[in-house]
Amino acid sequence: MNKSSLKACDVVIFGGGGDLAMRKLLPALYHLDMDGLLAPTTRIIGASRRDISDEEYQIKVRSALDEFVPSSINDEETWSRFKERLNYVSVDAQESSDFARFNDKGVGDSDRDVVFYLATSPDLFGSICSSLATHGLNQERMRVVLEKPLGRDLISSRAINTEVMQNFSEPQVFRIDHYLGKETVQNLLAIRFGNTLFEPLWDSAHIDNIQITVSETVGVEGRWGYYDKAGALRDMVQNHLIQLLCLVAMEPPSRMDSDSVRDEKIKVLKALRPISGANAYNKTVRGQYAKGVVNGKSVQGYFDEDGSVPESRTETFVALRADIDNWRWAGVPFYLRTGKRLGQRYSEIVIQYKAVPHSIFSDESNRQLQRNQLIIRLQPEEKISLTVMNKVPGASEGMNLQPVDLNLSLTEAFNNKRSPEAYERLLLDVMRNDATLFMRYDEVEAAWKWVDGIMEAWRQTSERPKEYASGSWGPAASMALPIKDGRNWHDY
Ligand code: BG6
Repeated sequence: MNKSSLKACDVVIFGGGGDLAMRKLLPALYHLDMDGLLAPTTRIIGASRRDISDEEYQIKVRSALDEFVPSSINDEETWSRFKERLNYVSVDAQESSDFARFNDKGVGDSDRDVVFYLATSPDLFGSICSSLATHGLNQERMRVVLEKPLGRDLISSRAINTEVMQNFSEPQVFRIDHYLGKETVQNLLAIRFGNTLFEPLWDSAHIDNIQITVSETVGVEGRWGYYDKAGALRDMVQNHLIQLLCLVAMEPPSRMDSDSVRDEKIKVLKALRPISGANAYNKTVRGQYAKGVVNGKSVQGYFDEDGSVPESRTETFVALRADIDNWRWAGVPFYLRTGKRLGQRYSEIVIQYKAVPHSIFSDESNRQLQRNQLIIRLQPEEKISLTVMNKVPGASEGMNLQPVDLNLSLTEAFNNKRSPEAYERLLLDVMRNDATLFMRYDEVEAAWKWVDGIMEAWRQTSERPKEYASGSWGPAASMALPIKDGRNWHDY
């Protein structure tokens, strides 16, 4: 990136004292500063109800950085620069007159771009946007970033969108999905469209099935009340998993720019075969975690968490089979699964190729040649590997074959270059006004439509989510989901 092209801007964070700001946004901005990616006069302005001074805010941010960016302790030079950028405005998001304090602070003066990051409850998005407009803070060079959840269904997401769009136009609205900022997700685009090798084989003629797993070991972490209103389908599938699916399945965009990429993603969303009524029973599995052992530690079940109510049917796990009705993907199942309190924290996309049409290797052990697999691992490590069949070395081995992984470890390949956190890339993109890795509203809407069909089918059944032991891989029925089609989940 050309550092001389950095443009100064004001980054205003609503919810500036909250968890997301302290754990993710400020550490990400700090790292950008450390890497020389913030213009010298860029300012960061925390905004929330508490009445504190700039200095008190700086102290609070410093202690968050000490906790979440341990290297900040040893880097006094970056810290003193970063500290100078930190300002604070006390504002009640529902009190329009408070917004005049941004004008007093010079936000948006002298043609600076302004990014308003709304790390608040979505109930406040509408009133924040309208108060910003009242104070002249919705000009073209000003943008709003919206954090999820963008609604809990199509209707509520439309309501949020309508309120926001009364005062900001689509190009000014950046709907964030932090999965799109993960390095390996972008690398998926590099792999697909930066090589000749993969794209000609990226279709139903060569690929048998595709699997996307986002497995978490954490539980609901003290936010039962919040989580129980969402569940895994809304919290993870509607956004993160569907976005990954779109990037895997979309046609090559003509350019790497925001509309070209998003035009292709929306086509995938529109081609998703609806899951509703009776077929939800065959194509989806819901689970709720029971007590068990995760990483050697005994943990409690969903209904032992503080604030839980025994009638809840909210799923903490979901596995499903999606189908994309177009030429490229006809007949190729996309298996998606995600859950809390599973055996291992990892996320990966597995492209499972078809078997060779005919094996020329006569040895019995070679008859079942393992199929090629391309694995794109997002976490815990960022890695891409390709499984290919190889001859075992040695004259006495004859033509004995064995699968071998060709591994591309990104950290090793790039000399341990630090891999940025998702929020770093995304914040930088908002500052540069590049919306390629953000969701356009038509995508959000299409994803909700699809997810609403599943929710409705679940509502109509008397069946409860199936229990699974914490530390397992989810309910047994989820293991059976691909088996019904003669396939298996890829083992971690
Ligand atoms: C968030 C969900 O969007 O993503 C959380 O609300 C989840 O429930 C988190 O834990 C997972 O993100 P990551 O980057 O840790 O995989």
